[in-house]
Amino acid sequence: MLILGIESSCDETGLALYDTEHGLLSHALHSQVEMHAEYGGVVPELASRDHIRRALPLTRHVLEQANKTLADIDGIAYTQGPGLSGALLVGTSVAEALAFSLSLPTIGVHHLEGHLLAPLLEANPPDFPFVALLVSGGHTQLMRVSAIGDYELLGDTLDDAAGEAFDKTAKLLGLSYPGGPAISRLASQGQDGVHKLPRPMLNSGDLNFSFSGLKTAVLTLVNQYGDALDDVARANIAYEFQEAVTEVLTKKCMAALKQTGLKQLIVSGGVGANTRLRERLTTAAQRRHYQVHYPRLEFCTDNGAMIAFAGAMRMRHAEESNHSFTVRPRWDLAELSQP
Ligand code: KG4
Ligand code: ZN
Repeated sequence: MLILGIESSCDETGLALYDTEHGLLSHALHSQVEMHAEYGGVVPELASRDHIRRALPLTRHVLEQANKTLADIDGIAYTQGPGLSGALLVGTSVAEALAFSLSLPTIGVHHLEGHLLAPLLEANPPDFPFVALLVSGGHTQLMRVSAIGDYELLGDTLDDAAGEAFDKTAKLLGLSYPGGPAISRLASQGQDGVHKLPRPMLNSGDLNFSFSGLKTAVLTLVNQYGDALDDVARANIAYEFQEAVTEVLTKKCMAALKQTGLKQLIVSGGVGANTRLRERLTTAAQRRHYQVHYPRLEFCTDNGAMIAFAGAMRMRHAEESNHSFTVRPRWDLAELSQP
């Protein structure tokens, strides 16, 4: 079965073709990062308009790359939510219109389920069950994943998501959007031991997170520096901020594995691309004989491959579509059930 996947929930248009027999055949992405950078964040209306421009050329591109035509497609998967409603509507309407014209079934995919399953696109994927750390711009969640659609929430953030904390801290340090990669680059020039930031909820005894206090602590530091905040100071703050976030994430992942008795961890979402986080998780897991699985870097952030894959996992059970559609800008992952 050949599935076309369409992702358009935020500022990236992602297209991919996934074959249930031969795996991922092709994928392509257009990132709007440069377009939004001058505004310091995503401008929803601009995002929607750009998705309209990109969706069909990228569809043609993935078909050509895989040496396939529209006639070869067996089903279309698209991100139905959560995300920006206008942006979601573009991918959704392109998917349903194509499906209508080709008499194909469609499936609306939950964006976070896409992220969650992205590590399974790699070689030697883990078997169910496993623990998943989902760390994106909007979410920081630990889950027990027993099967496709069987997700038990173990821990969640009480306020800001980890990616959001990276983005807000980057802004405080005068760095460009998106903040995660910018902080990570700056942190590599920072020094250990210059500053000490809090590790929120490190010893809370549960698997929840909180990152807004960390951002406030950075603000206090930045204010203390005032005009003396030079590049060296900024690098040292970025370094310590990254240490604080990755320490909390790593410790809570180890605690989740211990609590569930499971031995495999998967990490997904944009912050999963962070090198320091990967380093810490890999070291901590090796010490305890756990296995960690990551998606390749380009599949940590938004992409079409994860949507095509999640869609393929559910497509066999898809109902006949009448091609009317709605988007779900707010959609709780816990509402999903097994296909
Ligand atoms: O998963 P994603 O692409 O979008 C959402 O669904 O939210 O994640 C985007 C988030 C942003 O907050 C971005 O700053 C963060 O992931 N991010 C990173 C890195 N690359 C992206 N955070 C830390 N280190 C990185 N290397
Ligand atoms: Zn995402």
